[in-house]
Amino acid sequence: MSKAQAQIVALREQLEYHNYRYHVLDDPKITDGEFDHLMGQLQSLEAVHPEFASADSPTQKVGGAVAKTFSEVVHGVPMHSLANAFADEQIEKFDQRARERVELQDGLIEYVAEVKLDGLAVSLRFERGWLVQAATRGDGRSGENITHNMRQVLAAGRGGSGEGGATHLRGTSIPQVLEVRGEVFMRKDDFRKLNQSQREQDAKTFVNPRNAAAGSLRQLDPAVTAARPLQLCCYALGEVVGAPIPPTHWEVVEWIARLGLPVSSLAQRVVGVAGCLEYYAEMLQRRADLPFDIDGVVYKVSRMDWQDALGHTARAPRWALAHKFPAQEETTVVEGIELQVGRTGAITPVARLKPVFVGGATVSKATLHNWDEIARLDVRIGDSVIVRRAGDVIPEVVSVIAAKRLKGARKCKFPRKCPVCASTIVRARDGVIPRCSGGLHCPAQRRENIKHFASRAAMDIEGLGDKLVAQLIDGGQIANVADLYALSAAQLAGLERMGEKSAANLIAALDNSKRTTLARFLYALGIPLVGVATAETLAAHLPSLEGLLAASEEALQEIPDVGPVVAESIVAFFREVHNRQVIDKLIAVGVAWPPPVVAEADGETTAGPTPFTGKTVVLTGALSMPRTEAKRILQSLGARVVGSISNKTDYVIVGENAGAKAEQAEALQVTVLDEDAFLRMAEVD
Ligand code: IVH
Repeated sequence: MSKAQAQIVALREQLEYHNYRYHVLDDPKITDGEFDHLMGQLQSLEAVHPEFASADSPTQKVGGAVAKTFSEVVHGVPMHSLANAFADEQIEKFDQRARERVELQDGLIEYVAEVKLDGLAVSLRFERGWLVQAATRGDGRSGENITHNMRQVLAAGRGGSGEGGATHLRGTSIPQVLEVRGEVFMRKDDFRKLNQSQREQDAKTFVNPRNAAAGSLRQLDPAVTAARPLQLCCYALGEVVGAPIPPTHWEVVEWIARLGLPVSSLAQRVVGVAGCLEYYAEMLQRRADLPFDIDGVVYKVSRMDWQDALGHTARAPRWALAHKFPAQEETTVVEGIELQVGRTGAITPVARLKPVFVGGATVSKATLHNWDEIARLDVRIGDSVIVRRAGDVIPEVVSVIAAKRLKGARKCKFPRKCPVCASTIVRARDGVIPRCSGGLHCPAQRRENIKHFASRAAMDIEGLGDKLVAQLIDGGQIANVADLYALSAAQLAGLERMGEKSAANLIAALDNSKRTTLARFLYALGIPLVGVATAETLAAHLPSLEGLLAASEEALQEIPDVGPVVAESIVAFFREVHNRQVIDKLIAVGVAWPPPVVAEADGETTAGPTPFTGKTVVLTGALSMPRTEAKRILQSLGARVVGSISNKTDYVIVGENAGAKAEQAEALQVTVLDEDAFLRMAEVD
């Protein structure tokens, strides 16, 4: 056997195996991107070696095989797959060939551009308007009988626009026989909810919405399918008896919709290659915001007579083409787990990855969020994992490929000491987020801290930008915020992009900043969980710094709006010797504030207006801090926290696995904030 032939045989075997895992077991072992890559390799080899061509090759067949658990249905008209394209030139070629075949000299072809839903293809057969049979695609010639299950989907009303479900077609011109093809899929939010409830019941979770849809549809017990939130979207016809087929694909889809079946609202009529590519770009941009996964777009020659003239190959029609998006999920290896220390000392585990191209960029790091997530994924150093990068969302590890786990794979331990400065760890927020208590002493926190110290709401040091801070730290001129005040104009003038004038200006700004308020000073220190409002409250109730340094957790909790978590954080911060040293130095160089203002008699916070003043806020889902703590923070910022959403709600703050409330917020067009946005607005992190 020649080398090429051996390669072809091996690729065919691999593709058969992965087809089986994907289509029959609903349990793929590789990503779609890897599958496409293998398929591409085989296609190129077969193109160069036509002598090894075979009708049995996966390049010539439609993906699935018939699983043995359902009865077999032979499709009235075969169910084809689609040819894939990844590059613009392939779209040019496709259009060029189509124009030649339909002998179009001038003018452009009108296409219907649709989204390529990432679900599974089904065929529904209606006779005299009644659903008599439904089948999966199977091998394209015959599939599995899923009639009972599809009835559930249609009856649930999710499959049709008819009230109370659509197991019967609507309208007056119902053909004798109508086969409709479409995609069964699951929305992203429904997928998350389903996995959550599976976890709660200790049942198997699904890797992605597509697998969840496949697993839910291919259930022998239709009651199980009925309980799963499946959706249907129709995009083509099979056999039709007793009615004329409309002249264009656009009108075919309009007809399907008039019959009461769901169709996509994202389809567009476009002209020529340019129109196709414009649609592609638009959908690529909208991809992350769509409520369901799409893995590309599909272009279809709209004129049905041209579709007939173009015909099809063994596997796919020549009148349609799938233009795939870059894969959002890829497999790679976790080379290490790093602990990143943020400004407030919060330690986030981050997976260091063997670089992988995913979602249009090379990714070498992915967040693991927190230790709950590490435990949930059971991710270990050395593991093969699926990494996802969708839109602007930071890359994350979706799952571990357990079958590929090597013997030496190591777990990542919850840190006992800060990985950078070895300070004590405090467990903040439910114990999942470890926090370094090193404060201004910890080098990792230092840079961010100095930036924070200089910021407008803190010491307001004009002219001390990010780059300058980095230069000063890297050059060893400063190690902490107190060192800022020892800088000389001559030292500064020697730095990159720093003239004598700007050096003198910065020295003046530093000098000015020494006259401050106790509240600003406290905020500037960067004590975890002490934002502007809390700093103001503290300053108002404990008007001397000495008093504050000496205060116990109990004493601090006497202050309105200071709960146990904030009190603990303050005491831990002041307990660190390094923090005390920096504070002493700052006082020694002349940082000072006017004598205390007397606290208001009613104990109200003296803070000025905040983004939450007078706002009505609803909390939903799991935040990384206890709900009571979030509520307390909001109240301290002047918000009213209520339990249910109405049109009077100003903000809904959503945590993990937020349920119906997140949807209600969307429906009522109430501004939704995730936890990060909330903390940023509250300035507590
Ligand atoms: S048309 C003869 N349109 O993609 C044409 N397919 O990779 C048959 N798919 O088997 C397919 N969205 O499961 C068509 N708008 C769309 C689609 C779509 C998703 C799926 C379908 C098909 C597969 C091919």
